[in-house]
Amino acid sequence: MILVAPSILSADFARLAEDIRKVEKAGADWLHIDVMDGHFVPNLTVGPQVVADIRRETQMFLDVHLMIEKPENLIPAFVEAGADLVTVHIENCPHLHRIIDVVKKMGVSAGVALNPATPALLIHDIVAYLDLVLVMSVNPGFGGQEFIPSVIPKAKEIRRMLDDGGLQAYLQIDGGINQQTGRQAKEAGCNVLVAGSYIFNSEDVEKAVKSLKRLGCS
Ligand code: DX5
Ligand code: ZN
Repeated sequence: MILVAPSILSADFARLAEDIRKVEKAGADWLHIDVMDGHFVPNLTVGPQVVADIRRETQMFLDVHLMIEKPENLIPAFVEAGADLVTVHIENCPHLHRIIDVVKKMGVSAGVALNPATPALLIHDIVAYLDLVLVMSVNPGFGGQEFIPSVIPKAKEIRRMLDDGGLQAYLQIDGGINQQTGRQAKEAGCNVLVAGSYIFNSEDVEKAVKSLKRLGCS
């Protein structure tokens, strides 16, 4: 099965609740919330207050992707705001095991993201503790960028790592996902597709969500 996680980065923030209802109604599974701090990535987005406000508007599973320095300082606030899953980047977490432990002890799921230039082997010793591995298929920071095809072999390598270890963690991909790249990602073993511009910039949001969802049936 493929789970579809629309990224609100490409939603209309002045009509956020409305846009969230559209993707929920279209059958999207998770809501992907990109948190950026202007340091780890060159862009700024939302903080815990927005997550709390979203939590009041929807029952959807809230997938919070932290692209921030020192994520440990803000993880409790995001969990209290209603995050169901918190993903941190391996590139800025020297004490990754401790952070994963903190997230899990708060009773929510924990994920680790890898930038396009980060090799799969770096998660070898942490993968058994994870609920999700996120393969970034663009350099994080902005929506609407082009998919980087060289991440496909990496996704396959992580899929093998998970299967060989008998691990059930989700394998998520994020960046430049549309029907075509989503199919490549699915064939590489990804089972959660994040899509921002493909969904929210489409004339028919429902059709866009369903086109990704259907990849799970082929
Ligand atoms: C990029 C974000 C993505 C982004 C994806 O830093 O992590 O979630 O919103 O947007 P699209 O699907 O437009 O590449
Ligand atoms: Zn993201």
